[in-house]
Amino acid sequence: MSLNIDRRSAAILGFGAYRPSTVVTNDDLAQRVDTDDDWITSRVGIKERRFADESETIVSMAVEASRDALANAGITAEDLDLVILATCTAVSQLPSAAPQVAHILGAKAPGAYDVNAACAGFCYALSQASNAIQVGDATTALVVGVEKLTDWVDPQDRSTCIIFADGAGAAIVGRSETQQIGPAVWGSAGDRPEAIIVRDRDSLMEMDGRAVFRWATTEVRPQIEKICTAAGITMRDIDVFVPHQANLRITTNMLRALDFREDVVVAKDIEYSGNTSAASIPLAIQRLVADGLARSGDKVLTIGFGAGLTYAGQIFVMP
Ligand SMILES: CC(C)(COP(=O)(O)OP(=O)(O)OC[C@H]1O[C@@H](n2cnc3c(N)ncnc32)[C@H](O)[C@@H]1OP(=O)(O)O)[C@@H](O)C(=O)NCCC(=O)NCCS
Repeated sequence: MSLNIDRRSAAILGFGAYRPSTVVTNDDLAQRVDTDDDWITSRVGIKERRFADESETIVSMAVEASRDALANAGITAEDLDLVILATCTAVSQLPSAAPQVAHILGAKAPGAYDVNAACAGFCYALSQASNAIQVGDATTALVVGVEKLTDWVDPQDRSTCIIFADGAGAAIVGRSETQQIGPAVWGSAGDRPEAIIVRDRDSLMEMDGRAVFRWATTEVRPQIEKICTAAGITMRDIDVFVPHQANLRITTNMLRALDFREDVVVAKDIEYSGNTSAASIPLAIQRLVADGLARSGDKVLTIGFGAGLTYAGQIFVMP
């Protein structure tokens, strides 16, 4: 027996962002730990980042980014029937944050859950939203990437406190005439949990920076060609490249071995936002849109990668 199910198509309808108001420069950090602006800009490419204050929580930042995305998509929260929130810095394990975000927005009891795939979380969540719309589980989905990494990073650890930061980015995914979101290519390396780890609820983040750098530039980079193949296009067709904003040196290193066109737009939001894990890709896209560098109809390739180790990426057409 087979079920009689129509397959639908999905597209991103709009993006939104929330950046905490406190700007922290490299000089600010140099007052706290033994580092300097030259070291930080040359090693990771970050000029400044945003730190959330006590009133800026995972839920409140997600709500603000989502309101922005809803406005940009031209819909209201009442249209949402699915909310997926990607984060690895939730304050508590129970309950998840997505139902609260949905409630505050005024959505009518949508399906709501959190995803933890660290810095790859937004790409995992985007794929789940696209799939849910294609099979008919949902008609309109909100996907949020949100992090408050400053809760989990040791402010005295100069190898991590200069990299990680806070913020939220969101996307609305809805029905479309044609499929505008490609299949996700994803994977993991569970033999390296210690590369980026918070050991238990009383611990802060530890990172083996060299191991992460090596993995991203050797094992993650080849996935980019697979993402194009999965979507039935080539790297030369890509207009905008939005890798997880982990570290500008990782992006530069990846680009050396990729066959993008010379005029491909490359996201560099890391310079002003730092590494915001699951929030980094939608935040970077929002900045490209605001700067007029990503336009409607552009083919965008995203790839998230980080703790787990996990990665995921896909191509989508800009709304
Ligand atoms: C973190 C990273 C910049 C460190 O650079 P590195 O060249 O590997 O540096 P090392 O860790 O070997 O440390 C080199 C020296 O710099 C020092 N150092 C580390 N952080 C520093 C800082 N903020 N300022 C000044 N010196 C610093 C180290 O203590 C070490 O000093 P030592 O030689 O006297 O012991 C680099 O490994 C990296 O970019 N990794 C990827 C991290 C990442 O992207 N994580 C997010 C993934 S989602």
